[in-house]
Amino acid sequence: MQKEELIRLAETAMERAYAPYSHFQVGAALLAKDGRVFLGCNVENASFGATICAERTAVTKAVSEGVREFSAIAIVASSGEYAAPCGICRQVLFEFMPEGTVILGAKDAPIKVMPLRELLPMGFGGSDIK
Ligand code: THU
Repeated sequence: MQKEELIRLAETAMERAYAPYSHFQVGAALLAKDGRVFLGCNVENASFGATICAERTAVTKAVSEGVREFSAIAIVASSGEYAAPCGICRQVLFEFMPEGTVILGAKDAPIKVMPLRELLPMGFGGSDIK
């Protein structure tokens, strides 16, 4: 799948964001190795710490559907600026796609593509638990 298409799907997901507190909507489109795409948006809560980011929504949806291997995730935000995944989301993504690619969309800028490993150097994974 082309990165442009994955960004378009992330934009669709962003429209479903529930962000009445921050007003910062985020959308994610997670590409599984089998070609399926799982969408996610941020889901906020009046108890702010219970908020779930768009990326983790997408991962949780996929894993709960029995899909665990991913190759890429596209992310967009309502700010129109690049929105790189937060630290917790980088860790969660690392669990399922350590060799995966992060694709960032912005309004008037080219799509940015980078390896997750670049965003999470020396990431902690299952093989570190002896
Ligand atoms: N957010 C995401 O959805 N993904 C990120 O990686 C960063 C932050 C959301 C959480 C919250 O709803 C809003 O953006 C502001 O932090």
